[in-house]
Amino acid sequence: MIKIGIIGSGAMGTGIAQVAATSGHTVIVYDNNQSALDKAKAILEITLKKLVEKQKLTEQTSKDIFNRTQFANDLSHFKGCGLIIEAIVENIDVKQKLFSELEMIVSDDCILASNTSSLSIASIASGCKKPERVIGIHFFNPAPLMPLVEIIPGILTDIAIIDHSKRLIDSWGKTTVLTKDTPGFIVNRVARSYYGESIRIYEEGMADFATIDWAMKTFGGFKMGPFELMDFIGNDINYKVTESVWTQFFYEPRFKPSLTQKRLYEAKLFGRKSGRGYYNYAVGIAMPEPNKNEELGKYIFNRVISMLINEAIDSYYLKLASKEDLDLAMTKGVNYPKGLLKWADEIGLQNVYNTLDVLYELYNEERYRPSILMKMMLKDNKKFYA
Ligand SMILES: NC(=O)c1ccc[n+]([C@@H]2O[C@H](COP(=O)([O-])OP(=O)(O)OC[C@H]3O[C@@H](n4cnc5c(N)ncnc54)[C@H](O)[C@@H]3O)[C@@H](O)[C@H]2O)c1
Repeated sequence: MIKIGIIGSGAMGTGIAQVAATSGHTVIVYDNNQSALDKAKAILEITLKKLVEKQKLTEQTSKDIFNRTQFANDLSHFKGCGLIIEAIVENIDVKQKLFSELEMIVSDDCILASNTSSLSIASIASGCKKPERVIGIHFFNPAPLMPLVEIIPGILTDIAIIDHSKRLIDSWGKTTVLTKDTPGFIVNRVARSYYGESIRIYEEGMADFATIDWAMKTFGGFKMGPFELMDFIGNDINYKVTESVWTQFFYEPRFKPSLTQKRLYEAKLFGRKSGRGYYNYAVGIAMPEPNKNEELGKYIFNRVISMLINEAIDSYYLKLASKEDLDLAMTKGVNYPKGLLKWADEIGLQNVYNTLDVLYELYNEERYRPSILMKMMLKDNKKFYA
């Protein structure tokens, strides 16, 4: 079994280390901040203890996992690693510097992976002598619980590195999807309209947060409404991802951030973690009641789901991933009740098209433009799945 290196012992690095050690690998975790490293060690110990209490692990397995995980305070320990996953601060200069330092330590066949959410793999690899060994391996938070991992080859990544990485992460019990090195990869791109269109509906005064959340849960079967979910993710993180996807797509109108969320972010109303976001989580404050008007609820659901489906169709058209991987990404990465292309078949492409076309005519805005693939499929009377 190859030795795995994890760099960055924050939320993601600690979780990924647990996954790799649980799969039997020796894992070396490094952080340039000693207190973050100590914290990670303590968190791993507590997590494993809880898993024993819940009878998900035996005492012995938990000890083995812990003993297989080593915490190192310098990079020389990474010498014998077969794969290193970087999960440090989301800053291109810092990541590039780290990757070129690593190349001087590791052997030629060591895969260098980044867990970046928003930076391009091509840019991270660009400082390396062997960019063909650099790949994106994007876990979701919390890594031990979320099944999805996006595998993102950069423009120069060797095909053998892609196969090897995919097989390895599959062997850790994860669901891998292969996607292109484009902003937001699959999940963080396709999911944007769940938030963006919902905020737009709110900004136009059609419904309040509670009503929009109710509509998406009641008529769409989503586990969390968009505003509950943004408060859960954190409005700082969610806003920054939106802004990053929008700017990296050269200010594509479909991804345009909203002032509503920007103000929340500026006011540090991050959501659950700060006690207030779209909702107020202070003790004793009741959650607002939705307006359970069925016609309004169905209108909201129809509009948001049509935008989500349009993005998934456009992503498929632009060969971001296979249709199966696009659907898996949304069900396994963000718990959607169905894959969006499967959902498109169920709702009927003509209905999705009609919803978007009405909005496009009404607003004269590019964000509502139906994907060209939708038009072509309608012309040929096609479905995504037989
Ligand atoms: N948090 C999420 O929900 C999430 C999900 C998927 C991917 N990611 C990505 O994973 C990466 C890490 O995110 P996180 O949430 O775990 O961050 P975090 O802030 O919790 O942890 C980052 C850790 O990296 C360490 N670090 C910073 N610079 C370093 C360096 N040069 N060398 C070694 N260690 C360094 C910090 O001390 C810190 O402990 C980012 O690229 C982020 O975009 C985050």
